Amino acid sequence: MSDKKIIAVVGATGAQGGGLVRAILDDPDGGFAVRAITRDVNSDAARAFANAGAEVVAADIDDEASLAAALKGAYGAYFVTFFWSHFSPDKEKAQIRNLAAAAKAAGLKHVIWSTLEDTRQWVPLSDTRMPTLMGEYKVPHFDAKGESNKVFTELGVPTTFLFTSFYWDNLIYFGMGPKKGPDGKLVFTLPMGDRKLAGIAAGDIGKCAYGIFRQGPEYIGQSVGIAGEHLTGKQMADALSAALGQEVGYNAVSPETYRSFGFPGAEDLGNMFQFYHDFEQVFCAARNLDLSRALNPSLQTFDAWLAENGARIPLE
Ligand SMILES: NC(=O)c1ccc[n+]([C@@H]2O[C@H](COP(=O)([O-])OP(=O)(O)OC[C@H]3O[C@@H](n4cnc5c(N)ncnc54)[C@H](OP(=O)(O)O)[C@@H]3O)[C@@H](O)[C@H]2O)c1
Repeated sequence: MSDKKIIAVVGATGAQGGGLVRAILDDPDGGFAVRAITRDVNSDAARAFANAGAEVVAADIDDEASLAAALKGAYGAYFVTFFWSHFSPDKEKAQIRNLAAAAKAAGLKHVIWSTLEDTRQWVPLSDTRMPTLMGEYKVPHFDAKGESNKVFTELGVPTTFLFTSFYWDNLIYFGMGPKKGPDGKLVFTLPMGDRKLAGIAAGDIGKCAYGIFRQGPEYIGQSVGIAGEHLTGKQMADALSAALGQEVGYNAVSPETYRSFGFPGAEDLGNMFQFYHDFEQVFCAARNLDLSRALNPSLQTFDAWLAENGARIPLE
């Protein structure tokens, strides 16, 4: 254990971090040990990781000192923030500063920061194609992350900027799966027209991150984008039809309609899908499928993800 490089994982009990914890635990001869960071070392998920051989350490990303202590002695770390637990880009930016500062204080050799585009580089606030939200953002949960990339660079933290993709798991956990229409038929709604969406099985994100840690220094200072497949809404609906054994239609609503759905975050997500749509080429080109598979040879396609998870998609 002692000569292994320790990777500290923020969000270890969640979707992205959990995939990385499992990838490291599943490769005991890979030269890495894992330190799972959680706010509650006594939760069922934390205990399960401890039982499986992970070191489990408490820290909160709102508290830089707790992070610095949790990162001590580690070789590297995986950082992710949790926009949807508070919906505040200002809070997210403060948390990212805490992460970068703690990494610097701990002298980490390799950080992977899970980020997204600052969409304002393509859609400035003056661009009226989509509304400006919260006074200074187009896609708040993207922009706060992208804007903060520079914090790692400014502090001189050796960082790989990992650009993630839309989780297919949102069809299970985020209410984005097909729904029954008034005629009883299933409809998959996405404001994407005929453009492609870069998607991924959430669990594959951590596996790709593990591939980056294994490759090591060549990825420091680099941006790496990952996806399992780039698919249109129609292709996703067809794959859903095959997996669920019943017809799923594709309902390509406009971004305006999506923004008006009224659930918390609908405007943010409506703008996000419009960005995916209007900048399909940019967004998909930044998420290379061959590179993703080279980092993670078990990378799932949408069909493979559906074969494993289709039955868990709520259809009401
Ligand atoms: N959904 C998508 O399609 C998608 C796509 C790309 C990027 N993203 C981004 O992914 C991020 C969320 O990552 P995820 O899906 O892996 O999250 P997640 O599954 O919701 O996991 C959150 C975990 O983080 C921990 N956590 C929450 N607040 C914390 C805090 N203050 N300090 C320390 N740990 C905390 C919690 O663990 P404990 O309770 O054990 O502390 C929890 O298990 C979001 O920022 C989102 O924008 C999402």
